[in-house]
Amino acid sequence: MIATQPHPVLQSSPYRGYVYAYPHKTAYRSLPPRPLREVWANEDQRHLFLYIHIPFCTMRCGFCNLFATAQPHRDLVSWYLEALNQHAQAVRNAIPDAHFARFAVGGGTPTYLSVAELAQLFERVKTVMGVDPSAVPTSIECSPDTLTAEKVQLFQSWGVERVSIGIQSFVESETVNCGRPQRRATVDAALRLLADAQFPVLNLDLIYGLPGQTVDSWRYSVDEALRYRPQELYLYPLYVRPLTGLGRSRKDGADLRLACYRAARDHLLDNGYEQLSMRMFRRRPNPRTQSDLTSSRNDTSAKPHYCCQNDGMVGLGCGARSYTRSLHYSFDYAVQPRGIKSIIADYLSRRPAELAQAEHGFVLNHDEQKRRYLLQSILNTEGLDIVQYEQRFGSDPSDDFPDLDIFAELGLLTFDGHRWQPTALGLERSDAMGPWFFSEQVRQLMAEYVAQ
Ligand SMILES: C[S@@+](CC[C@H](N)C(=O)[O-])C[C@H]1O[C@@H](n2cnc3c(N)ncnc32)[C@H](O)[C@@H]1O
Ligand code: SF4
Repeated sequence: MIATQPHPVLQSSPYRGYVYAYPHKTAYRSLPPRPLREVWANEDQRHLFLYIHIPFCTMRCGFCNLFATAQPHRDLVSWYLEALNQHAQAVRNAIPDAHFARFAVGGGTPTYLSVAELAQLFERVKTVMGVDPSAVPTSIECSPDTLTAEKVQLFQSWGVERVSIGIQSFVESETVNCGRPQRRATVDAALRLLADAQFPVLNLDLIYGLPGQTVDSWRYSVDEALRYRPQELYLYPLYVRPLTGLGRSRKDGADLRLACYRAARDHLLDNGYEQLSMRMFRRRPNPRTQSDLTSSRNDTSAKPHYCCQNDGMVGLGCGARSYTRSLHYSFDYAVQPRGIKSIIADYLSRRPAELAQAEHGFVLNHDEQKRRYLLQSILNTEGLDIVQYEQRFGSDPSDDFPDLDIFAELGLLTFDGHRWQPTALGLERSDAMGPWFFSEQVRQLMAEYVAQ
């Protein structure tokens, strides 16, 4: 008798590729330049997401391949902020009627900026882009070693709703092992500042599968995180990526990621958290404090609504991506210091007309738009609503993607007649299931990409 092989999505490690966005930026290529005025002309501009990228950090962590450079010269930071201002003006002139329903500052580490620089950034976002951070859900990323009481006060004064802080691990030796030496006292001081400030949403990032980490030490980190009662936790499986510090030096040990994932998931579900995706957990509201929450000055129910499936994103800064329905664009991308510095230098030298065009990215045809929609839905517990999909594309998702039925048979997805949703198995295999839906074109572009 011939033994049947398990489906590839169920075979071996689930950790194949994080589908943070589809298509991945390694599928972006140079495009004939197109003015942004034209790119956005037929887009609904009523509820856009404004994202600003700050590509600076105190150190280059050994696991990180984000677009960021460590310890830049102070002049470079000032020039970058000037270029960012020019970029904002150029984009605003190209899409003067755009309205933003959500705002985020990410990186890198935005809190690498001084209080005065952050204050100026918020001021300019308001005057140039017309975005009042207290009127729309606003989020900012920070790291323990760059956070101060003055910066926290500034965020409070601007009505920032969500602050996300990268912790990675509460065990000092683990952060040393992953090339991010971090004092426990610094971590606790930053978290106390944030917890005392009572932002509506405090998010902590943790990584599992770090060198030297065990399932027990991972559980310890998760428990330490819970002491600060964060509204959100992002738990990232470690990916060792080419050209990063870990990618160059790491000798592979046992892969504990799946055991860590299951331990943390079960622990969080038992401790008042719900799971929104493989990485994201959110604290369930306490019914007794619900009325207090909804009457707070940061009540978001009255704020404009952004929907990632239908509404576009405008990115400012090199490293930021922008999304319309049919075009995703950004500046070039690199991992190594030399490549990153040269992309930043190129950004600083641009004239307004060059900042108001798309010249590097990916054009999404109808098929790619469907794939993106699918991937943005079925890897989240909310799932894919077939009526909304049909309204957008005029077809049934299971006709477009027969694999949905196969995945339901395999126990990765469920379908209740209205909605496709991931099961517990589907969630833990998200990083294997997601790449399965990539188009041939995207796979090929990603395979051909040479990291710099
Ligand atoms: C922009 S950073 C967060 C803010 C800040 N720069 C910091 O590090 O504290 C984004 C997050 O992505 C996660 N991350 C980055 N590279 C990763 C990798 N190779 N594997 C797993 N998680 C990673 C880390 O948890 C990190 O906190
Ligand atoms: S993890 Fe954060 S601090 Fe470390 S290099 Fe990446 S963006 Fe910078």
